[in-house]
Amino acid sequence: MFSAILKIHSISVTIFFLIYFIKTLLLLSNAYEKLERFKSYTKILEMIISTLFLITGIYLITQIPEIKTMLIIKLIFVAASIPLAVVAYKKNNKILALFSLMFIVGAYGLAEMSRAKKADASLTDGELLYEKTCAVCHGNDGKLGMAGAYDLTQTQLTKTEIVNVILNGKEAMPKVQMTEEQANAVAEYVLTTIKKQ
Ligand code: HEC
Repeated sequence: MFSAILKIHSISVTIFFLIYFIKTLLLLSNAYEKLERFKSYTKILEMIISTLFLITGIYLITQIPEIKTMLIIKLIFVAASIPLAVVAYKKNNKILALFSLMFIVGAYGLAEMSRAKKADASLTDGELLYEKTCAVCHGNDGKLGMAGAYDLTQTQLTKTEIVNVILNGKEAMPKVQMTEEQANAVAEYVLTTIKKQ
């Protein structure tokens, strides 16, 4: 469920972003007629996409155990860009459109940054890595079960199989961005500490 919603969210955000980007380009290049035509073609699509984007976004927020500062900043950016965009395209105001685009690009950049930050490649401590990247779903003790996550105290997998799950994902579990060395350290930690609890 969680991963399906996350997928719908990413897809709708991407389409939303594309429509938005094209509109800004048309506006900035004074292509008002094309802009009007584009707006009327994409009107319904945009309504569907932005509703999906919002509903899935709200659902995802309710599923996150702790709201991080980065997420709050991202939300403020998105919230600020929407009214700006509405006014900008109503009045064909380029400056407002640019500001709005900046906010959206900022929010998108922050989302990418926090994803990239998840596994710092210099980190090789299994416990720290586990707490940073796995505990959101599996919990510090392995039993949290967030988003349908498997209870890791009950796993029957071998170390190699766990490394494989981490690097390639499994069913509802998305693959985790980390090096093989890191995945080995985490798998070791899961088998030696989490499973014993
Ligand atoms: C986004 C949530 C999420 C994150 C983050 C996550 N997992 Fe999972 N994990 C899941 C879900 C959901 C499943 C169940 C997959 C399935 O349907 O079989 C799972 C299954 C597993 C399994 C398989 C257990 C078994 O015996 O079948 C292992 C091992 C595992 N996770 C380890 C990890 C480790 C280690 C990390 C951190 C590097 C991690 N997971 C990060 C959600 C997550």
